[in-house]
Amino acid sequence: MKIVTAVAPVNIAVIKYWGKRDETLILPINDSISATLSLEHMCAKTSIVCSPDLTETKFWLNGELQPTDSKRFQNCLREIKKLVNPNLEYLSWNLSICSENNFPTAAGLASSAAGYACLVYALAKIYEINGNISSIARMGSGSACRSIFGGWVRWQMGNTTDGSDSLAVQIAPETHWPEMRVLVLVVNDKTKTYSSTSGMKTSVETSTLLKHRAANIVPQRTKEMITAIKNKDYKTFAKLTMQDSNQFHAVCLDTYPPCFYLNDTSRAIIELIHFYNQNKGETKVAYTFDAGPNACLYLLEKDVAEVIAMINYVFPPTSLKSDYFKGDTVPSKKLDEEFTEVLSKHCQ
Ligand code: DP6
Repeated sequence: MKIVTAVAPVNIAVIKYWGKRDETLILPINDSISATLSLEHMCAKTSIVCSPDLTETKFWLNGELQPTDSKRFQNCLREIKKLVNPNLEYLSWNLSICSENNFPTAAGLASSAAGYACLVYALAKIYEINGNISSIARMGSGSACRSIFGGWVRWQMGNTTDGSDSLAVQIAPETHWPEMRVLVLVVNDKTKTYSSTSGMKTSVETSTLLKHRAANIVPQRTKEMITAIKNKDYKTFAKLTMQDSNQFHAVCLDTYPPCFYLNDTSRAIIELIHFYNQNKGETKVAYTFDAGPNACLYLLEKDVAEVIAMINYVFPPTSLKSDYFKGDTVPSKKLDEEFTEVLSKHCQ
């Protein structure tokens, strides 16, 4: 019997992947860049047992048995097995795979990225495979290829039809920008209404803005982002991050029918961050949103305490919710009339 346990963290994109040129191989229409979070926070953990006594291969996710005939699961297993030494005695044994996320699954918090990165990494360990396995993780979920590496990671879209050059590379290790922090604001931890997979398929079919973005915006923005990360230029990094998040959500609106991932609270967070940065006279925080209403804030360690205090003040925990924010939505009239006043008092 062989047993392996692996842990993989989520990654948060600052240049978004949105749109495939090949649905089966999961080949993207643009490069993307993300940071992989550190291991102690939002992670997937996968244990695999490989034994001659198992009568079939089974896969549990968060305690629930999953179908193993899914195309993505089968593609990952097949591609891993292609790399295995054919004489390995346990290649034909069945597997028992048990995976868990320590954060809400499918709520737009990159759970599939951590999940597939972890699964593929654990399989590679079981079968003693070395090398860049990111292109195999990519076949589970595109963004998963970036979670194979720590630190700052670029997923190069590649241009071959077999996807051999569509893989993740590390731009800078986790030690490169030690002051950088990510705050995840969980606006809603329910499963999202439109999955990334179907949302981006409809965007590719219908959004002209997406074509413009992939052809004319992302290539240059990717270069600028890499330079900003390498130079630890927070101001440029923050601006590019927010612009890219906003453009991705503009593409979602340009999709027909549109996909609404942000809600009123997400938009209030965006206004708050811009207000705060303006009030401070410098860029202190950057937001980015994936395919859901939850915000990820990139900021430097020195600013974390004040930003958390501000967030708690403006969005008090549910039990303390004042008249100011009731429920999940923020009436925009309130934003205009009261929000500005309260913030200007608070953000001195
Ligand atoms: C908005 O990787 O979940 O988070 O490849 O279909 O599994 P599939 O999609 P997925 O899409 C992630 C989209 C995103 C942006 C990003 O992480 O780059």
